[in-house]
Amino acid sequence: MTEAVQTSLPFTPRVFSGIQPSGGLTLGNYLGALKRFADTQDSGTQSLYCMVDLHAITVWQDPAKLRHATRELCAGFIASGLDPQKSILFNQSQVSEHTQLAWIFNCVARTGWMQRMTQFKDKAGKNAQNASLGLFAYPALMAADILIYHATHVPVGEDQKQHLELTRDIATKFNHDYGVDFFPITEPVIEGAATRVMSLRDGSKKMSKSDPSDASRINMTDDADTIAKKIRKAKTDPEALPSEAKGLEDRPEARNLVNIYAALADMSVDDVLREAGGKQFSAFKPMLSELAVEKLAPISTEMARLMQDTAEIDAILAKGAADARVIAAPILKKTYEIVGMVGA
Ligand code: TYM
Repeated sequence: MTEAVQTSLPFTPRVFSGIQPSGGLTLGNYLGALKRFADTQDSGTQSLYCMVDLHAITVWQDPAKLRHATRELCAGFIASGLDPQKSILFNQSQVSEHTQLAWIFNCVARTGWMQRMTQFKDKAGKNAQNASLGLFAYPALMAADILIYHATHVPVGEDQKQHLELTRDIATKFNHDYGVDFFPITEPVIEGAATRVMSLRDGSKKMSKSDPSDASRINMTDDADTIAKKIRKAKTDPEALPSEAKGLEDRPEARNLVNIYAALADMSVDDVLREAGGKQFSAFKPMLSELAVEKLAPISTEMARLMQDTAEIDAILAKGAADARVIAAPILKKTYEIVGMVGA
């Protein structure tokens, strides 16, 4: 799906996206985000990709596990094909401008906007009074992540759409309140067959690292046997695959497996169904397993190899942070001037 929304000019195109280092990467993160980042890295547009460790701690993270997950996420970016020479890879906490701009945005955004965020409601659960203040303000920090670089395009999965609308609202209100045209109105880029990869156990739920059932997801660190077993056990219906996409409309589990196949194979859903239409799942699942293992096993092997040299990963993140700061610092300075801070 393409979101055709207008970006205000004359901002130079720049891409930003982020992933939380809050436990392992899933196939959803890979197809909805990492693979698409890698596929577009030669487009000539400057791009920044961030391990958002400050977002991760909006819910409790064990410090040693957070450190490990941040490095493993960086390894995941590189193993998925991101080249740190071409894109800026860094972790959020090393560039303090993110939190400095986030504070300004905390003062621009309204609490009512935050209360409407479905991700907050989902994550806070029934006991919202007990959620951290950081979880509530999460979207303002996310807006700051993007706007501290004047990023114009943000590739994400479908679940981030509401947060990106809020980012546009914050930019619009800031520009309006201060009478400037300073922050761009960012364009979400939600494209491809796998913008919403669903749970393998329940086609109405998003595939997520926080699902208690490990069988519901494929982790980027799963070995070939585990991937094959999870696909074999994936929930389906008794019908054969249709020969056209509209035949998948009321079949969420079937649609999910076809979408995953299409995204992994770089094919359209129609092309997949031209090949696989009429097949039973007993024939389609082995095809999907084989493809998933062929595409994912080299990534997990490379991640494990990269994790043997964490000093190298730390050096990549430090270099990325220094490069990111070169862009962020003048934008923060100008923001402070606009807001009226002495000494900016
Ligand atoms: P996070 O860490 O939950 O997910 C990272 C990226 O993976 C995508 N994704 C999926 N795509 C398709 N199907 C799925 N099942 C699936 N699960 C996850 C997400 O859409 C996302 O693109 N708030 C963000 C992180 C963030 C950010 C930002 C993103 C912080 N600042 C600035 C963009 C720009 C998050 O929690 O993503």
